[in-house]
Amino acid sequence: MQTDFLVIGSGIAGLTYALKVAEACPGKKVTILTKTQSDETNTKYAQGGIAGVMDLDHDSFSKHIEDTLISGDGLCNRRIVEIVVKEGVQRIEELISWGAEFDKEPEGDFKLGKEGGHSENRILHHKDITGKEMERTLLEAIKKCSNIQLINHCFVLDIITQHHLGYLVTKSTPDIECYGVYVLNLNSKKIEKIVAKISLLAAGGNGQVYRSTTNPAIATGDGVAMVYRAKGRIENMEFIQFHPTALYEAGIRGHSFLITEAVRGDGGILRNPKGEAFMERYDVRKDLAPRDIVARAIDSEMKINGTEFVYLDCRHMDHEKFLEHFPNIYAKCLSIGIDVSKDMIPVSPAAHYSCGGVKTDEWGHTSIKNLFASGECASTGLHGANRLASNSLLEAMVFSHRSYLAAMQDIESIFFNDHIPDWNAAGTTAPNEMILITQSLKELKLLMSDYVGIVRNNERLQRANRRLDLLHEETESLYQRIEVSPQLCELRNMITVAYLIVKSAELRKESRGLHFNTDYPYQGEILQNTIL
Ligand code: FAD
Ligand code: SIN
Repeated sequence: MQTDFLVIGSGIAGLTYALKVAEACPGKKVTILTKTQSDETNTKYAQGGIAGVMDLDHDSFSKHIEDTLISGDGLCNRRIVEIVVKEGVQRIEELISWGAEFDKEPEGDFKLGKEGGHSENRILHHKDITGKEMERTLLEAIKKCSNIQLINHCFVLDIITQHHLGYLVTKSTPDIECYGVYVLNLNSKKIEKIVAKISLLAAGGNGQVYRSTTNPAIATGDGVAMVYRAKGRIENMEFIQFHPTALYEAGIRGHSFLITEAVRGDGGILRNPKGEAFMERYDVRKDLAPRDIVARAIDSEMKINGTEFVYLDCRHMDHEKFLEHFPNIYAKCLSIGIDVSKDMIPVSPAAHYSCGGVKTDEWGHTSIKNLFASGECASTGLHGANRLASNSLLEAMVFSHRSYLAAMQDIESIFFNDHIPDWNAAGTTAPNEMILITQSLKELKLLMSDYVGIVRNNERLQRANRRLDLLHEETESLYQRIEVSPQLCELRNMITVAYLIVKSAELRKESRGLHFNTDYPYQGEILQNTIL
């Protein structure tokens, strides 16, 4: 198959870009690939909302910029922060013009929520299901574009570069180029090649590398792993954001339900099992301190009290208002016997967001020619060492727009590469035991949660490294012998991502933002971005 524009991923980053290139080039073909259902994305699960300076009477660009920089703990790229904050407002207005609805006051102004690290109320939201509303809006808009083809259940295996034409490609090869991708089409059960002029990687996050995560099953870091294999640049992978308040349900691991930070923005208070509102002991901003601080405080309280959770107390909050803003959370809690007006909600931190990823410039270019990246798989320089809440949906829209503008400059001068060989599956056979993959996945999640979680040290990182080596060796051996499947490829990708997280963590000889290493308790001179 040939397509002018290839989009890997159907979350906010992929769909925003696809809409724009399709509308700007009605004569060109746009193909979106997604590995399961089109709406099964991190985007769909976003709760709190999207940060934007919409109320200039009380807020300002400079305040949002400052909040983002403070949260990023010295590692944000100021120019990128300014771009996102300033251009973000236009992107939000565009989304509204496509049909997205955000909650409003009776007078017609937006109801703006507050989250950790924000000095003002600036979070637009659609109740507590903002991501679902965005995904709905974008998928409906996509359906109206006749030059867009969206293919579900199409698993991208690898990015095609000169390596597949038989050339030696290393990190120092200049002008590595992307010619398209190999996919495992789960509809036809065949491995196919899709040749593209320009590709956008919008493959999302990697929370599934950990045992407990707010991310759905699709978030296995495939995009980052593919670019790393293709010898592209990856940065800042040590900065994994743990959301402080995932709902704790005994026995439930994998995909935890989120209790949005907006609940604390509306007055929710964290308490330990003794009932103490402990956040005041950790930060003057108390429950609304940036996420790295709140997650570490909870981790510390859990260790002190020997519990697997702390509590979020909403009992004092106005019940009617709670129901209006958080109907989904209310219903979920009730479904497991928690009435938030009477009971406290058990919560614990869970892996939530990858601040690092595929390194991009201010127009979304990666280090690989004709390959752009946007959304959670990209590292634009916005988040630094700790993402400010509700900045990621904004970032995705801004960089998908910028990638579209840059792609418009290039598209007419790029030609299809007609020499791409078929996928080589020689020597592989059907697997006897898929259980080997499942077992390795369990081990991976456990070792990452035990040794590379919220609080790290050198010995733990070394342990993680040694165990990863073994998993890597065993999985590569399987990969050489058995037919590819999403399960095998995801495991392989997650091992690569885990390696990148551990390696970056080892390179950073300081504690900063989300990376807290007890062997380097003090922040010294800032080590700049870790690039692999
Ligand atoms: P995603 O929306 O995750 O989409 C990834 C796409 O890539 C999917 O379509 C997937 O199928 C596809 N894909 C991946 N690998 C492959 C492959 N190998 N082959 C084919 N397709 C592939 N951010 C905010 O700003 N505000 C919030 O309120 C907020 N709340 C959140 C709540 C939760 C529970 C979670 C999990 C995240 C939240 N975030 C929030 C973060 C934000 O939702 C994500 O960072 C953002 O939606 C990522 O968008 P994306 O387009 O980059 O990726
Ligand atoms: C939340 O609603 O707490 C998540 C917001 C985010 O991750 O940006």
